[in-house]
Amino acid sequence: MMDWTDTHCRVFHRLLAPHARLYTEMVHANAVIHGDRARLLAMDPVEHPVALQLGGSEPELLGAAAKIGAEYGFDEVNLNCGCPSDRVQAGRFGACLMREPQLVADSVAAMVESCDVPVTVKCRLGVDDDHDWDRFLAFIDTVANAGCGMFVIHARNAWLQGLSPKENREVPPLRYDWAYRLKQERPHLQIVVNGGIATQDEATAHLAHTDGAMLGRAAYHDPYLLHRLDVAWFGGELRTRGELLRALRPYIEDQLARGVYLKHITRHLLGLFAGERGGRAFRQVLSEGAHKPGADWSLIEQAIAITESFAGERVDAA
Ligand SMILES: Cc1cc2nc3c(=O)[nH]c(=O)nc-3n(C[C@H](O)[C@H](O)[C@H](O)COP(=O)(O)O)c2cc1C
Repeated sequence: MMDWTDTHCRVFHRLLAPHARLYTEMVHANAVIHGDRARLLAMDPVEHPVALQLGGSEPELLGAAAKIGAEYGFDEVNLNCGCPSDRVQAGRFGACLMREPQLVADSVAAMVESCDVPVTVKCRLGVDDDHDWDRFLAFIDTVANAGCGMFVIHARNAWLQGLSPKENREVPPLRYDWAYRLKQERPHLQIVVNGGIATQDEATAHLAHTDGAMLGRAAYHDPYLLHRLDVAWFGGELRTRGELLRALRPYIEDQLARGVYLKHITRHLLGLFAGERGGRAFRQVLSEGAHKPGADWSLIEQAIAITESFAGERVDAA
């Protein structure tokens, strides 16, 4: 997710959910080829398995970018066919690619040809008022035939006129049944459902119908949900929020020693105690202190201490 799932965020999420597949922010193929790769493709080895998401619509460029991504160590390269922003539409990529299945297929083919990691696609159900199952299935089939074996389905349409990207994540109705039906009709494809999944029960219920569930906003705003899901699905002991955060200390101190500002890491931690007593104070201590010169680990310890002062932290899997 743009501006959210940078390498610091992914390292944190990996700690919470050792079995999750993580995704980068969308990076345009041109930026991968001509831009500051060290920054755009920054990735820590603990992040694996991690997918690089590319934006673009020129097969040759996407092929070249996928090759670079795989060489950088990403485990999967994903093509964005779901972003509705004006900027993305002007560049003729993102969600508007749902109208151009052959171009997406040519792009996927070029990416498959140039790299040796799985090439996947994240898409919507359609664009604007196009609610045509056969057209959606034809899109999937055309792209699958080019070598894409896994689709992340953001299970709503993208409305390309009149809605902001934020509204496009909320207003068009969710149709999970389309993702379920896709899995039924194309059982050989890996289908991951996305969109509006907010709780452990909701995420778990989707697994009866699909191969996976992708969480966006809920994972970012309430990252402990990732931990609860990981333990529920893959086993292991539930750890407290404080324990998990303290396990991030070596990473944070190493980053500070490299000149990274604390605020660039702590902004991803703010939701860790969401809904808990002391959660607001935790957030406040980090927000107010992390940008100050010399801010270091002790600030985080101070924030954790506040939450611990509330009669012991509750650990539950509810
Ligand atoms: C701040 C923000 C940035 C996003 N950036 C991307 C992106 O780069 N690539 C992408 O495929 N989706 C992006 N999305 C969409 C999410 O991946 C997801 O499809 C959408 O929010 C619906 O899932 P959710 O309800 O679990 O959040 C973004 C969403 C948000 C809120």
